[in-house]
Amino acid sequence: CGIVGYIGQNDTTDVLLNGLEKLEYRGYDSAGIALLTDKGLELTKVKGRIAALRESVDTSIRANMGIGHTRWATHGVPSEENAHPHQSASGRFTLVHNGVIENYLDLKKEFLADVDFVSETDTEIIVQLIERLHGKYEDTVEAFRQTMKLLKGSYAIAMIDAEDPETFYVSKNKSPLLVGLGDKFNVVASDSMATLKLTDQYLEIEDKEIVLVNHKEVEIQKLDGQVVERTPFTAEIDASDTEKGTYPHFMLKEIDEQPIVMRKIINEYQDADNALKLDEDIRKAMQETDRVYIIAAGTSYHAGLVGKEFLEKLANIPVEVHVASEFSYNMPLLSEKPLFVFISQSGETADSRSVLVKIKELGHPALTITNVPGSTLSREADYTLHLHAGPEIAVASTKAYTAQIAVLAILAVDTAQAKNLNLDFDPLQELALVANAMEVLTDQKEEVEQLTRNYLATTRNAFFIGRSADYNVSLEGALKLKEISYIQAEGFAGGELKHGTIALIEEGTPVIALATQENVNYSIRGNVQEVVARGANALVISMKGLEQDEDAFVLPKVHELLTPLISVVPLQLLAYYAALHRDCDVDKPRNLAKSVTVE
Ligand code: G6P
Repeated sequence: CGIVGYIGQNDTTDVLLNGLEKLEYRGYDSAGIALLTDKGLELTKVKGRIAALRESVDTSIRANMGIGHTRWATHGVPSEENAHPHQSASGRFTLVHNGVIENYLDLKKEFLADVDFVSETDTEIIVQLIERLHGKYEDTVEAFRQTMKLLKGSYAIAMIDAEDPETFYVSKNKSPLLVGLGDKFNVVASDSMATLKLTDQYLEIEDKEIVLVNHKEVEIQKLDGQVVERTPFTAEIDASDTEKGTYPHFMLKEIDEQPIVMRKIINEYQDADNALKLDEDIRKAMQETDRVYIIAAGTSYHAGLVGKEFLEKLANIPVEVHVASEFSYNMPLLSEKPLFVFISQSGETADSRSVLVKIKELGHPALTITNVPGSTLSREADYTLHLHAGPEIAVASTKAYTAQIAVLAILAVDTAQAKNLNLDFDPLQELALVANAMEVLTDQKEEVEQLTRNYLATTRNAFFIGRSADYNVSLEGALKLKEISYIQAEGFAGGELKHGTIALIEEGTPVIALATQENVNYSIRGNVQEVVARGANALVISMKGLEQDEDAFVLPKVHELLTPLISVVPLQLLAYYAALHRDCDVDKPRNLAKSVTVE
């Protein structure tokens, strides 16, 4: 979910709506805003997108203070009642929340058994509890503080007290929240992207702090009331990077940006003598570890699978790759000197953070590879590697995936060099060739669109197969397609299909096969024959030098280890056009959110 709050003299309604639009990537099933005016609190909530909220809000309302929220449902269906902001019974307290309160039913039983609830959310418990405790303490800060002490779980909260038009009450635990500083105004936001046009100065809020924000000042307190001083940081995102310009969708823009991102990464990770340059501390940590544990979710997990190959083959380090949500509860036996590598575009994924908190308790070192250097995972790890991909807005990740793979390649090569291991290629030169190949591929949109028509126009399902490095990419290709076009898609190891899944192949079932690896070229083509013999409509994507006459698409040649960086590009485009042809919302697919800050 996304939160934005504003206190000052500007047009609050506009600031909140614009901010929420920038936060829609965090969830978009319902939305609302609360504005505190001279006549009282005006609340507007809708089921659906910010565009629907914009239509419902009376823009003539003048307010110096307000909060807004865009939701990704956890407790309770997407509906107007369950949309935030939520209010206490008397209407005096109004708040927005991002996160999950684990003990909400216990709190309800213990303190609020007599209250009639309007919504099914855990959030309403918080605001009702604040009102209840206000009855006891007769002081809003104290009621807020005591409530925060009772909450278990994750939360980022911004609250308005209708009888105090001067103050926001803010707190967080695990979920991200920043306070932005302006001239005669201040803002609160889940992500600086929401309010970048207003300010680039932000204060980090730490877990369980209470923050009181008025239009001039911000006071940060520990939970026990002790005041904390904090220096603001400058958010280094260019506001124009968050616009899609002439592109119809962010996803297409981001696919096209991949060659630029590659070149940027090459630039950022080389020194004046064109040699690879990585932090000495990171190099040391990589040399000292006896096993790397990669932790990630979704697309970042798929990048981790590719990274494992780099680190094992080039740097000779054993690597395990784990899905974050499983690792927390089912930790494997660890080696003697583990190094944890968190891969996360947003740096905020709650599943990954929960692992980070656990392994830090155990005293293990952690490196975060992220697109957002100031993010929670970056701040809380010992080291950070930046993806330099620029803001990624489309929910389906594209340029962050290839940036993650490139940075993992650089990490592997740097470690190999530090260990004096022999490399048979110049990594920066090979990455430069990858950037060129990506450019060729992003110019082949018409060809891929035609392939989409031929293979995916009417199908219910699709299979992606590959062996070795191609298998890892087939998982990502399938994920892209299902995320945005809702075609049921699975990635399979070419050789494994015959052990069960081949039963699903029927006349016309699309099977997209990657053939970029010389040592398995013969066997993957055998797997293609197996499915064709059972009626499949096979689309082979191969690489120059390995191609055969019947291949539908041939990729430019790049170093074999780096093929995932380019073979994924036509798969991203296939997913894009499949979604487009089915009239799906490419950038905001149903049920998903880009940054999932709940476990
Ligand atoms: C969400 C998104 C996925 C993304 C995953 C991990 O589920 O929908 O696209 O891959 O989170 O996100 P992260 O920011 O940690 O890379």
